[in-house]
Amino acid sequence: MGSLYFDNPFLKGRYFMDINIPNNILKGSLSGPKKNSEIKKGKISRITNKGENLIQVSLFTEKQAFHKNYKDEEINNVIIDLLENNFNNLELFTKDFVYGYRISSKGKVLSNKRKNETNFAELNHNKEKKYLLEEGMVVPALVDLGVMTSEGKVVKAKYDKFKQINRFLEIINDSIKNEKKLKIIDFGCGKSYLTFVLYYYLHFVKNIDCEIIGLDLKEDVIKHCNEISKKYGYDDKLIFYGGSIEDFKERKDIDMIVTLHACDTATDYALHYAIEMKCRYIFSVPCCQKEINMQLDSKNEHLFNKFGILKERYSALLTDALRANILQYYGYKTQVLEFVDFDASPKNLLIRAILTNNTFNEKVKEEIDEIIKRLGITQTLYKLQFEK
Ligand SMILES: C[S@@+](CC[C@H](N)C(=O)[O-])C[C@H]1O[C@@H](n2cnc3c(N)ncnc32)[C@H](O)[C@@H]1O
Repeated sequence: MGSLYFDNPFLKGRYFMDINIPNNILKGSLSGPKKNSEIKKGKISRITNKGENLIQVSLFTEKQAFHKNYKDEEINNVIIDLLENNFNNLELFTKDFVYGYRISSKGKVLSNKRKNETNFAELNHNKEKKYLLEEGMVVPALVDLGVMTSEGKVVKAKYDKFKQINRFLEIINDSIKNEKKLKIIDFGCGKSYLTFVLYYYLHFVKNIDCEIIGLDLKEDVIKHCNEISKKYGYDDKLIFYGGSIEDFKERKDIDMIVTLHACDTATDYALHYAIEMKCRYIFSVPCCQKEINMQLDSKNEHLFNKFGILKERYSALLTDALRANILQYYGYKTQVLEFVDFDASPKNLLIRAILTNNTFNEKVKEEIDEIIKRLGITQTLYKLQFEK
């Protein structure tokens, strides 16, 4: 229950009226902006942050989006304030009912309540999977990028990507501890679904002061990503550059690098950058590991090489094993995780490396050298680190 004060143009003055705001709101929307309101649209979503159950209010002006999280006991006042100052229409969903409120042009507050016909089995479906970004939680940039609708529903064709990003985010979330500020590069960001989600999650949900750079060869994609970043007012903190990872030298103060399916040796250049800059966190999902595959022949590892598919998989695994071990050599606590099911993407291994000490692990280096020598192969990260 809350008291709503509003202008009544017919009775000429400010009046108040009690309105019932339900408990346990799951989601909602605010529309019908008042004449002088800069805020044009609003969304309400239930979210989980550090295990805390919160309600996120997202407000959209013509150009910018603002997000703030509230506890259940705070939300009534926030909603009342928005109805008094910014919006004439409100719709709220609980598990069982949908509540509608409208301030009419005659200054009356009209309300209704109907049974919620939404298939909540469907809505809970994602909760069971414990995604950090639940369906219904609108990430504005993902709407522009065609991954979700403006209601926060994930577009069917993008569901696998949404799943990958969610898992990537979960792994990052589990790995970072009490960070107040983070500078991050997403190397080979492509259409930048991950980059935007990472920014949104760290900045708005985790309240971390983060700066993110997305880098990719594709100038047109970079231009589009910068436009979206600007549209939502993120552009002082989320910037996209066109160019190759090999040539990227601009920043030296980076805490974290991420790569998601950066092709072939692009992953090596990203890992090389991270090692040289002593980045504390590395999250890297490699793909298209062709380099070693092209070097294997009947003289080395013939057992695998005579079967094309085994040669391909063996080379990919060997490439990632060398990368993971090189990171260990440089003092990174390194793990290789299966981050999504093979069905969702066969390129489903994620290298997680966290810098824990500055000593070199010579034993690991000996093992790396031994296999490189025995197979008579070379590998880009190995070359970059050890054959300078
Ligand atoms: C398969 S896409 C993945 C894009 C994005 N990370 C994602 O998961 O949706 C690989 C991206 O890496 C970029 N890329 C490949 N080699 C690169 C390099 N050497 N420097 C910068 N970007 C590179 C490509 O342009 C492409 O956009």
